[in-house]
Amino acid sequence: MNQYLSTGTLKPLSITDLAAMKQRGEKISCLTAYDASFSALIDKVGIDMILVGDSLGMVIQGHSTTLPVTIKDMVYHTHCVSKARQRAFIVADLPFMSYASPIIAAKNAAKLMQIGGAQMVKLEGPKFECVSFLVDQGIPVCGHLGLLPQSVNQLGSYKVQGKELAAAEKILTEAHQLQQAGASLLVLECIPASLAKEISSQLTIPIIGIGAGVDCDGQVLVLYDMLNIGPIKRPRFSRDFMNGANNIEEALNTYHQSVKQSLFPSIDHSF
Ligand code: KIV
Repeated sequence: MNQYLSTGTLKPLSITDLAAMKQRGEKISCLTAYDASFSALIDKVGIDMILVGDSLGMVIQGHSTTLPVTIKDMVYHTHCVSKARQRAFIVADLPFMSYASPIIAAKNAAKLMQIGGAQMVKLEGPKFECVSFLVDQGIPVCGHLGLLPQSVNQLGSYKVQGKELAAAEKILTEAHQLQQAGASLLVLECIPASLAKEISSQLTIPIIGIGAGVDCDGQVLVLYDMLNIGPIKRPRFSRDFMNGANNIEEALNTYHQSVKQSLFPSIDHSF
């Protein structure tokens, strides 16, 4: 297959490419990014997917949660990222309260795609009605289960989810329901590795883990955590990839190779 556009630049990966990677057992590497410089560098080392996460509220804007992030912020940062990459698939977060109803979700997802240049939008939680409405409008959707940072005020703190049997079964059921509603990708955050393994093997869509063990179909980390430059303490499931690297590009490359070879996350970085 021709990987190049007529301009000579690499073609962006599509959701079909990511689905094919799951089919052939190739791990999907993903990092968050919020600006053009990091987007270009991440793309250069061959990382498959960039998530413009609302984690930017914490690592860029210095808030203690992701709740203050607006759709305007997300569109701006998504545009910065999408302009600078050639190949990586771009997913952008719908921020807190930007998908309170299917219509609101569609209006905001349209901004992320039309102005920001996102190829897919991500939303947190079992929002089946929103997912199926967006998919009906031709908007690809990534679900997000497990630890839901936008619900931190309900959860009380950022802690591992799905440890008890009933909670694990709820996450497994909701994962199936999100796939049924039309989600074509699913992020699992901070859940036991054994649960993420079960979900990855039962679902046909690619499962991207963060603090969810090595058996997911792919991995994502917050860029500033893995470069150890964030203003907040690095979570246990992340790793300092600058440790032993001569520069940022080398650290990104080590992360990419570690994901591809299932060397990351290790048991130390899993629950
Ligand atoms: O906002 C973000 O960076 C995310 C990741 C933690 C998956 O949603």
